[in-house]
Amino acid sequence: MSKALQRARDFEAKYLPYTRSELPHFHVTGGIGWINDPNGFAPYKGEYHLFFQYYPYDTKWGPMHWGHVKTRDFIRWERLPAALAPDSDYDRDGCFSGGAVELPDGRHLLMYTGVRNVRRHDGSIESFQTQCIAIGDGVDYRKQPCNPVIDSAMVPEGNSVHDFRDPKIWREGEAFYAVMGNRSRDGSGEILLFKSSDAQHWEFVSVVSSCHNQYGRMWECPDFFPLDGKEVLLVSPQEMDAIGLEFHPGNANVCLIGSFDQKTCHLMRQSVQAIDYGLDFYAPQTLLTEDGRRVMIAWMQNWETSTCKQMELRFMGQMTLPRELSVKNGRLYQNPVRELEQYRGVRIDYYNVLINGETSLRGISGRCTDMTVTVRPGNENSMYKWFRLYVARDGEHFTLIRYRPDTNTIKVDRTHSGFPHDIVNVREFPVSVKNGVLKLRVIMDRYSLELFVNDGEQAASFVLYTPETAGAVSFSSDGSVLVDVEKYELEIK
Ligand code: FRU
Repeated sequence: MSKALQRARDFEAKYLPYTRSELPHFHVTGGIGWINDPNGFAPYKGEYHLFFQYYPYDTKWGPMHWGHVKTRDFIRWERLPAALAPDSDYDRDGCFSGGAVELPDGRHLLMYTGVRNVRRHDGSIESFQTQCIAIGDGVDYRKQPCNPVIDSAMVPEGNSVHDFRDPKIWREGEAFYAVMGNRSRDGSGEILLFKSSDAQHWEFVSVVSSCHNQYGRMWECPDFFPLDGKEVLLVSPQEMDAIGLEFHPGNANVCLIGSFDQKTCHLMRQSVQAIDYGLDFYAPQTLLTEDGRRVMIAWMQNWETSTCKQMELRFMGQMTLPRELSVKNGRLYQNPVRELEQYRGVRIDYYNVLINGETSLRGISGRCTDMTVTVRPGNENSMYKWFRLYVARDGEHFTLIRYRPDTNTIKVDRTHSGFPHDIVNVREFPVSVKNGVLKLRVIMDRYSLELFVNDGEQAASFVLYTPETAGAVSFSSDGSVLVDVEKYELEIK
């Protein structure tokens, strides 16, 4: 094992025991230090492994390692020692994002981007990105002598060798495929498809999709998979311009749905939408479960706010709750993995509660909860203008979820959540409400709120650093509204 990897593992062994009490209850973190993108999210020998961009030594981004956890049910995770460290010439400045696959002989293959920075004469830094592999047994991995397996020479003519990263690998029959992000001649993103018979020798197949500066610039962290008769491409664009309430500016997330043209190996787009409408969501990756579900996990953070943390915490960055995906009527739907329901404890419910003004309901509170609130007009003539759901509330703090039927929009506002940073704390997005019935499923953990609207038609993720003692919930409306509430404590030991 290299010195760099040994050092990371020693550091983990020494300090991880101290941070346990400050971690979320069921969302993945690095345990200590910094994490960003999920990597290598894939089944291996009957379990699901998840790696992540990781810098154990600080709560800021640094030379990228791969941290490692695994799970059987997406809720309880077992921590494994760091898997990769930047210790070879071709990845000396970082082991960037990538994927994983089980080889036919049972070994576990990781494919990632090796980064090598070179200082130019003028003092600026040029980064070279190539694709590399490491093979192991689910705990220890050996970088292969054939690295890099896809080097700069294989980038299509005119495209960037500096922005060429994040291979997502999968196996299809006898062949391996990988998609990765690249920057084309016009400076904007392109997703490239490569093919191999042994995961070592790769050939370029096609450009699956190009950005043409329409949805951001560089496209990072692609994932590409068939789902419900469609082909789905997930990308994380940099330098996005806002488009209505659908896409927010900056580091955004985009889902392209269409069909795959077998001749050109190109995605024929039919629809484009945001994946998640919250403040904190980036670089999602998916896997296929044994029972055929497409499950997605993402970094629940945003680059723009990645320097804003709660000072005392010794970890920075967490993953979303894994979500089951489906495509209906040309839209991507997502719902929490069904395994979460096994952790539902005490249930409290209310039906047909009339809200007119502000109300709280006995027993409806908590911070590690799975709560569904169904809202509908109180009577046929009810013309309410807004409905508000306050969560994570105490005398000082609250986070607000507001629905306006006239504009059909939801606004989530964490301005008063106790996050002491002058950043964007509000996100508003359109929803489609049929027959006046709106369903809000709110999953809360110690530092997060994830909202699923109308059975997964929209999802929105938010980091909250509100003290865990702030657990009150209240409902309010300026007109008459009827609500049903079903709340479970989540018991995750
Ligand atoms: C996306 C990203 C990837 C890269 C990694 C580096 O968040 O910029 O493109 O591989 O983070 O940590």
